[in-house]
Amino acid sequence: DREAKLQLVHRRIRAFSDFPKKGILFRDICPILKDPAALTAVTDLFEEHVRKNHPQVDLIVGLDARGFLFGPLLAQRLGVGFVLVRKKGKLPGPTLSVLYDLEYGKAEAEIQDDSVAPGQKILLIDDLLATGACELMKKQQAEILGCMVIIELKELNGIEKVKPHSLFSLIQY
Ligand code: ADE
Repeated sequence: DREAKLQLVHRRIRAFSDFPKKGILFRDICPILKDPAALTAVTDLFEEHVRKNHPQVDLIVGLDARGFLFGPLLAQRLGVGFVLVRKKGKLPGPTLSVLYDLEYGKAEAEIQDDSVAPGQKILLIDDLLATGACELMKKQQAEILGCMVIIELKELNGIEKVKPHSLFSLIQY
């Protein structure tokens, strides 16, 4: 059931102090990927959420880099496509970009300008937060159904940052 799956995920998240900077408690999701049962549980939980709440989704949009690990698995389960939002300078051809704040710095995110058609219904996926990407999707005139993350860090106030969109998370700290 859902609680058992959440448990499988929860026990595969570990924390490192002062990484990548002093004062940051870094939540590491790598152990999830090493454990097939935990990775299946993550995908199951996301799939259940989407089928129940956003069955009309056209595309999953994943954020560089950890959104790339979980997004395609989910997209394949749902039978929809997957699109990459990358850090600046990685994508060929015409792109759109946006500057956004991280917990520890700033970054610029970029997407190929033909990757989402106006009006397409998209869900954003990342391991922690999907802050900047909502802006990009607005530039693309995509219809954002919501954001999905494995971990929600309450102190980062992600709910506020993605407003008016919904933030769905598996684990909260
Ligand atoms: N990205 C932003 N903040 C983070 C944190 N505390 N742990 C892991 N990844 C992060």
